[in-house]
Amino acid sequence: MSVLLDPHSLANRPLLDGIQGNILKSHGRPHTANVFIHCRPNHVDEAKTWLHSLVEGEDALIQSGYAQLRSNLLWKENQAIDTGLFACIHISAAGYRYLFGDGKNTELADKPFQRGMKASAALLNDPDPESWESGFQAEIHFMLLLAYTHKDLLEASVDNVNRAIQSFADVTTIAWGCALKNAEGAGIEHFGYVDGISQPLFFEDEWETYKKNNNIKDEARDIKDEKDKDTIIKFDPRAAKELVLVKDPLSPKDPNAWGSYFVFRKLEQNVKGFKQEEAILAGILGFREEDDKERAGAMLVGRAEDGSPIELDKKPGLINSALLNNFAYQSGNNAKCPFHGHTRKTNPRVGPVEEGVQVANNRVMARRGIPYGNRTDDPNDGNIYNKPTDKVGLLFMSYQASIKDQFEFVQTQANDTQEGIDPVIGQGDRSAKGVFCPEWGLTEPTKKASFAQFVNLKGGEYFFAPSMSFLKNIHKG
Ligand code: HEM
Repeated sequence: MSVLLDPHSLANRPLLDGIQGNILKSHGRPHTANVFIHCRPNHVDEAKTWLHSLVEGEDALIQSGYAQLRSNLLWKENQAIDTGLFACIHISAAGYRYLFGDGKNTELADKPFQRGMKASAALLNDPDPESWESGFQAEIHFMLLLAYTHKDLLEASVDNVNRAIQSFADVTTIAWGCALKNAEGAGIEHFGYVDGISQPLFFEDEWETYKKNNNIKDEARDIKDEKDKDTIIKFDPRAAKELVLVKDPLSPKDPNAWGSYFVFRKLEQNVKGFKQEEAILAGILGFREEDDKERAGAMLVGRAEDGSPIELDKKPGLINSALLNNFAYQSGNNAKCPFHGHTRKTNPRVGPVEEGVQVANNRVMARRGIPYGNRTDDPNDGNIYNKPTDKVGLLFMSYQASIKDQFEFVQTQANDTQEGIDPVIGQGDRSAKGVFCPEWGLTEPTKKASFAQFVNLKGGEYFFAPSMSFLKNIHKG
């Protein structure tokens, strides 16, 4: 039986009405503001009233999962339409303690969530929280995510929120996000690589689009003809909702009350440093030919700048590369993609195989990150020296059922030096060398090289995105 949800089925309506948007499907708007909020002591009732006002009454900002799907559909049908402001709220363990005292917090059982991100600093090799940006050093209770197509209207909405909370809370910091696109219109991160290609899929219509984009013929598993070998499912992104959703324990009577654990990390990127080191690596690997121009970077990330997986070709430019995700790594073989390449480290694509198909493993998260910071240069112009060294980066965000088994597991793997540290996000011993195979497709000869760290954490927190019924009833208890 398919684990996927039919977004049009009436049977799924209560589930989608019961969760906040952005969890099962990205809100998709290009301008965002993460507003981090600290409540002053002795204003619990006001804080609860405000949380309730986000979902009921004329000023309600938050969209349910169902309402968000409707607005995504409208946008698809008519991109001229204004689908309006999107909002969703996230509460930290400190926030739950503020609202209810110590008792209820423990019902949200995820241990890293309960302790907060600062307590995980040693485990994750994060910089000392005392060195984080001051707005993240503060005790954060809530994070309201606002998103809009229009930047000016987003700014006006943030002003309104500021006014609404000023009697009981302070904004500790605002992280502004802004989508970055390459010349083909695909979303990229600041190093210039297409991002957001590989995601778990929860809906039937997403799967149909995915099959088309990846030229997958569903029944093709038995195809014997060599020419059709690329139409077989090699990596299956289909996922059950439980990969990211857990029952909201603070709304126990409602069978449709689901929430999701949420990770926020502000990751600064030193783009110039990364590009310089990428060029040095190309030298170490002896790359001179035009064909190898992008290969050093693609070996670090796992994909070329246009999204082409290095496991499939030594050059960029594969058809539909910005969408191409139907590939697996050859087990035990690093001749094409190094074991420590970012996409391989964070999702090695090995796991249980059902009917010959490798199903999405249970470590991946629904990634919802967006770049931050302004650029005056073209990220893909091939010029190293006009690239920024700071003030730009990724607002990493992810939804998962378990912060311990998903985000923290993946970050810990990225830090692991045994097969080489993840050159993009690894934190720890950066002198540790990883193995590279300079001849694409051949395991010999090999070269070993280290790679310095160019992604640095500026602060973050763990949250829970509560159910709609929790928010609708919060002012009562
Ligand atoms: C500034 C920091 C980061 C940059 C520049 C970055 C960049 C990228 C890029 C370019 C891709 C390939 C596009 C795609 O397959 O979707 C990717 C994939 C991915 N990243 Fe990151 N990333 C960053 C942070 C993180 C963090 C903190 C994690 C988790 C701890 C993470 C986990 C993943 C995962 C799971 C994938 C998909 C791998 C796959 O399924 O093939 N990334 N990242």
